[in-house]
Amino acid sequence: MSDSYLRGLFGLEGRTAIVIGATGVLGGAIAEGLAQAGAKVVVSGMNPERGDAQATRIAELGGEAIFHPVDAVSKASLEELKAVTLEKFGSIDMLVNCAGVNSSVPYEEITEEDWDRVLATNLTGTHLACQLFAPFMAKQPGGGSILNIGSVTAHLPLSRVYAYSASKAAVVNLSQNVAREYATQKVRVNVLCPGFFPAEQNRKILDQDRVANIMAQTPMKRFGEPEELVGAAITLLSPTAGSFITGATIYVDGGFTAMRF
Ligand SMILES: NC(=O)c1ccc[n+]([C@@H]2O[C@H](COP(=O)([O-])OP(=O)(O)OC[C@H]3O[C@@H](n4cnc5c(N)ncnc54)[C@H](O)[C@@H]3O)[C@@H](O)[C@H]2O)c1
Repeated sequence: MSDSYLRGLFGLEGRTAIVIGATGVLGGAIAEGLAQAGAKVVVSGMNPERGDAQATRIAELGGEAIFHPVDAVSKASLEELKAVTLEKFGSIDMLVNCAGVNSSVPYEEITEEDWDRVLATNLTGTHLACQLFAPFMAKQPGGGSILNIGSVTAHLPLSRVYAYSASKAAVVNLSQNVAREYATQKVRVNVLCPGFFPAEQNRKILDQDRVANIMAQTPMKRFGEPEELVGAAITLLSPTAGSFITGATIYVDGGFTAMRF
């Protein structure tokens, strides 16, 4: 196996990645993976303590990272993130939209506030970042690549998780549309849809009954480990490995979306 061949295919040296939501479980794992593949990483999110800890961990692993806070639903905050990244690293070659929130109640109990909160973070936040960074990347000589985080619920709606499922289905649709828009401008846009990975935003919804149902419908009969997202993320983000992939959705779900009784 040739190291230089693999490095050429998957190496991200000299490239900068912003990971919004890298303060969380999945975003943190993706940020670490990108850094270990050579990228300079801006860890971003709303929790400075977590963000600093994540950037420190990346440094301990031998990577380069800074933390800068962002509120994904604020245009001004995203603009600031862009400016700080450019000042520090000089380019923005990759963007991962991994911020997300959830809510789980019977359909008739969803409040307007909760609906708006989930749609705002998961869908509008993704849209605002794409709208800011895709045209910017298109003006860079090397273009860029955006990875939006969907969910298996984009494809198979999950009971009690109405706003979340709708938001993730819309993220897939939006990503395809933005991918089409920038396809000739060296900007690729793809979606990674995780299956079930225990984390903060879904702890409350993973009760005993639901876990049993999930396992019954997961051919691999287990939850995912956050690191298991990294290979697909690097493939989609890499300008070499992913060069002809845009508008695609990859499920990393232990077979959940392939399961039919
Ligand atoms: N864990 C899973 O099983 C799973 C499955 C499918 C999809 N996802 C998606 O993966 C992504 C990451 O989720 P996770 O499981 O790591 O959850 P998590 O709760 O650990 O991380 C989510 C992060 O997003 C941040 N965030 C929330 N609102 C924000 C905002 N307005 N601006 C900036 N950051 C904000 C939170 O502070 C948190 O750090 C989410 O989009 C989630 O929907 C997760």
